[in-house]
Amino acid sequence: VRPGSGIRNEISSMPGNFQLSVDRLIDEVGAAKDLGIRGFILFGIPTFKDATGSSALQDDGIVQQALRALKQTFKNEVVLLTDECFCEYTDHGHCGPLCEVQGRVDVDNDATLEILAKQCVSHAMAGADIVAPSGMMDGMVQAIRAGLDEAGFEEIPIMSYAAKYASGFYGPFREAAESPPQFGDRGSYQMDPANGDEAEREVELDLAEGADFIMVKPALSYLDIIRRVKQRFHVPVAAYNVSGEFAMVKAAGAKGWIDERRVTMEILTSIKRAGADLILTYHCRDAAKWLRQG
Ligand code: PBG
Ligand code: ZN
Repeated sequence: VRPGSGIRNEISSMPGNFQLSVDRLIDEVGAAKDLGIRGFILFGIPTFKDATGSSALQDDGIVQQALRALKQTFKNEVVLLTDECFCEYTDHGHCGPLCEVQGRVDVDNDATLEILAKQCVSHAMAGADIVAPSGMMDGMVQAIRAGLDEAGFEEIPIMSYAAKYASGFYGPFREAAESPPQFGDRGSYQMDPANGDEAEREVELDLAEGADFIMVKPALSYLDIIRRVKQRFHVPVAAYNVSGEFAMVKAAGAKGWIDERRVTMEILTSIKRAGADLILTYHCRDAAKWLRQG
């Protein structure tokens, strides 16, 4: 969602997905709701970006505006999730403010925790039903839980992106959210794709800190991780079928190289079969239509 009105910009690498102004977002959510989709996660493109991502904390920030408008229109017929991170709001595109560690510029983990809790409270005040921290900062769940509880939001659950890999599959999203890192990469806070055990450690930590359910991301190249987490921890597991996974299917489908409907349903089935209780996917409207057709 972005500031303005009447905006519906298609994202070139994600056909059928749009940057929307709040008014058009209402139409889009209404149409999806009519297809039976109840859960929505919001990502914002703010009016300005700076070194600390301060536009994320404004009461009238773009996501806060969207939350208020959606809750006013749809009440409790929709479940609204918010992506809690700063990469869309910082001018350098990293997931929090920076500091220098041993001569190397890196995200300031502990400074990020403080503002993450504030971001979550601001979103909860505006109507978020579930907060979803996605930045992989150490201690983020504990900091957010404490911040929410202190502000009276004990009932707001945390869906932690506990196992998030440093992935090439996020490419199209960074175009959509206008948030590519301006230097370096996210390798210091996201996980190494070769490391499966670390996912279990990260999930264990986040649950100990108070996460209500957790996310594995991406989904398709990490079906083994979904299965491991589902088997070991008895909490709901969400899987994020990310932008690059979506774009590959769309591109090959458009060229007639694969049967898009068949492949999409096969992929979503595999994510479910691996153990996902929830799937976050850009295919959702297509899938909902196809499921209705039987
Ligand atoms: C922000 C965030 C990202 C995605 C979701 N939240 C980008 C990133 O980590 O670079 C990617 C989602 C997708 O590719 O669909 N931390
Ligand atoms: Zn981020």
